[in-house]
Amino acid sequence: MRNLRLALVGFGTVGQGFTKLLSRKEHYLAEEYDLGVEVTAIVDTVLGTVVDHDGIDLDWALEKVEKDGEISDDKDPDTVGLIREEDFDVLAEITFTDIETGEPATSFIKGAIRSGKHVISTNKGPPALAMTELEELAEENGVIYRYEGTVLSGTPCINLGSEAMGGTEVTAIRGILNGTCNYILEEMEKGTAYEEALSTAQELGYAEADPTADVEGFDAGTKIVILANKLMGADLKISDLDRSGISGLTGDEVRDPDESGLKTKLIASAREDDGEINVEVGVEELPVDDPLAGVNGVLNAATFATDTLGDVTIIGPGAGSEATAQSLLTDLLAINDRL
Ligand SMILES: NC(=O)c1ccc[n+]([C@@H]2O[C@H](COP(=O)([O-])OP(=O)(O)OC[C@H]3O[C@@H](n4cnc5c(N)ncnc54)[C@H](OP(=O)(O)O)[C@@H]3O)[C@@H](O)[C@H]2O)c1
Repeated sequence: MRNLRLALVGFGTVGQGFTKLLSRKEHYLAEEYDLGVEVTAIVDTVLGTVVDHDGIDLDWALEKVEKDGEISDDKDPDTVGLIREEDFDVLAEITFTDIETGEPATSFIKGAIRSGKHVISTNKGPPALAMTELEELAEENGVIYRYEGTVLSGTPCINLGSEAMGGTEVTAIRGILNGTCNYILEEMEKGTAYEEALSTAQELGYAEADPTADVEGFDAGTKIVILANKLMGADLKISDLDRSGISGLTGDEVRDPDESGLKTKLIASAREDDGEINVEVGVEELPVDDPLAGVNGVLNAATFATDTLGDVTIIGPGAGSEATAQSLLTDLLAINDRL
């Protein structure tokens, strides 16, 4: 049986979800994959840092956070030093996303790669800003950097396009890549005003207190840049996006689909025009027979136009603790496969 040692940096919603999943699937991973996973470090600037070379008891860590609101009082870790010096195989980088700088996550990822560790991450900042650099660095250092959870969380999307459909050429992508906007637009189709729909989304935990990244299309835009660069060979930056969100929409602009026969969706798209790949985020009215028209609530979806299969659409959860943790597990198993 192979034993992989993990360091978890970021122990928030997704970090704890991943810990729960690893604990729940311990026997399954041993039986089905002949794989043991040991977490030897958990690092979090709010919840504290624990290092145990014999493996941290994951249930203890989860119970401790629930009971005490922290796992230790070490809140000022030297994260880069720990990543470089500790002896582990895979860094799970699960800290907050900064789409302007990609930091501190990009430095954590580079530090891990340079010290010969594989990386799995759900953070959109690093691949949106430095995908090629990080992938080349990983190759030079003989390790693997995977980031499946950055788009559609655990619903296969990046690995669907790059691995499961290997050999096909993705010629265009259209997606519903932000569940918060999809939820709000659906409520508006029922006649609810934008502000009321947003505040319900916040009460339900779908939208942040500051919803700007979602409702102005930055989140969906970052994801379509990642997809276009990874699956269509583009070299785009977030500043290349032609972007508009949903915040300015009035009730008149979001029609009742029972009357119009059209569904209003925030669509992120990448397509080639005159040899150039363009990425865009904006509101579109879709005919009901478009597969994306039937994507309801906080679900996400992506349609890939391909040269061999025609259109392929995948629909599934785009966020959530366990759904995003699943992407880390998928990435971890893909690394295990290649060792
Ligand atoms: N939640 C989802 O459904 C979802 C889906 C797809 C992708 N993601 C991505 O996954 C990542 C984690 O999301 P999340 O929902 O788990 O966020 P979260 O609940 O805010 O957790 C992130 C944790 O990492 C800590 N942290 C920040 N900087 C750190 C550092 N320098 N060293 C160690 N720990 C640090 C955070 O502390 P602070 O409170 O100080 O920041 C927080 O406790 C984000 O990049 C997010 O965009 C999330």
